[in-house]
Amino acid sequence: MRIPLIVGNWKMNTTPSGAKTLVRELVRLLQGVMNLEVAVAPPFTSLEAVGEVIGRGTLRLAAQDLHWEDRGPFTGAISHSMLEALGCVHVLVGHSERRIYFGETDHLVNRKIHAALRGGLQPILCVGEEEDEREAGRYREVLVRQIDRGLEEVSPGFANRLTLAYEPVWAIGTGRAATVEDAVDASRMIRHQLERLLGEKPASQVRILYGGSVSPANAPGFASQPEVDGVLVGGASLKAADFAAIVRAGW
Ligand code: PGA
Repeated sequence: MRIPLIVGNWKMNTTPSGAKTLVRELVRLLQGVMNLEVAVAPPFTSLEAVGEVIGRGTLRLAAQDLHWEDRGPFTGAISHSMLEALGCVHVLVGHSERRIYFGETDHLVNRKIHAALRGGLQPILCVGEEEDEREAGRYREVLVRQIDRGLEEVSPGFANRLTLAYEPVWAIGTGRAATVEDAVDASRMIRHQLERLLGEKPASQVRILYGGSVSPANAPGFASQPEVDGVLVGGASLKAADFAAIVRAGW
C-alpha cells in the first residue's frame, strides 16, 4: 500500500517570517487530515523557521535541492546532513528548473540521489519532457533516459525511500496541466521502467506523483486515479487555502 504524498514546492519565494505565516495557516487548515503525507519545501533559508512551526506534527519538511558531496569546498552549496539536521525528510532532485537554469545533467541528478540516500533523506526524482520532445513523439524516450540515468546503481533496497514525480516541463507554471489520462499514462510507463530497473516488488513501493499547474480545480481528477500517488504543487502551494484544498481533494 502506497500512502499518497502531497508536496508544496515554494521555489524562490518567502523570507523566514513570511514562511512562518504561510505554514501556520497551513497547519491550521490541515488539522484532521489523515492517511496521507504532506510536505512543504521552502527555500533553504526558511527551512529552520518552518521546522519550528511544524515541529513533530503531520506536516513534513522537504528541501528543494542538495549537493552531491557530503562536505567540502563547494561555495554556496548545501549537503544532505545539513538538511537532515534541520529535520528535512524529503528532498527534490532534478527539478526541471534545476536542469534548465542550473545546467543539471542526468549524471549530477544521479549523484544527488545517491547523496540523499547515503544520508537519511527520501529523494523525489523529478522527470518530464519538454514540449518539443512531446510533439516529436519522444516523450517515452526522454522519461526512460531520465529514469535510467537518474537511478543508475541505486539498489532495489532503497525503493521504499524513493518517489518519482512526473512533471512535464510545458505544464509547469503555465496553467496548462496535463490531462488525467496523460498523467496516468506517464505513471504507468514510469512504473514499468522502475520494474525493469529495480524488480517488480521494489518498484511497487515507489510513489509516483504528478506535477505541473496542479490546482484545487484539477486535483480531484488526479486524486481519483490509483496510478497517481500524489502531486507536487508549485504556484498553488503558496496560497494556504488552495494547497489545503488540493490536500483534501479525495486522495
Ligand atoms: P506549478 O509548479 O504547480 O507552479 O506548475 C510545479 C512544480 O514546479 O513542481
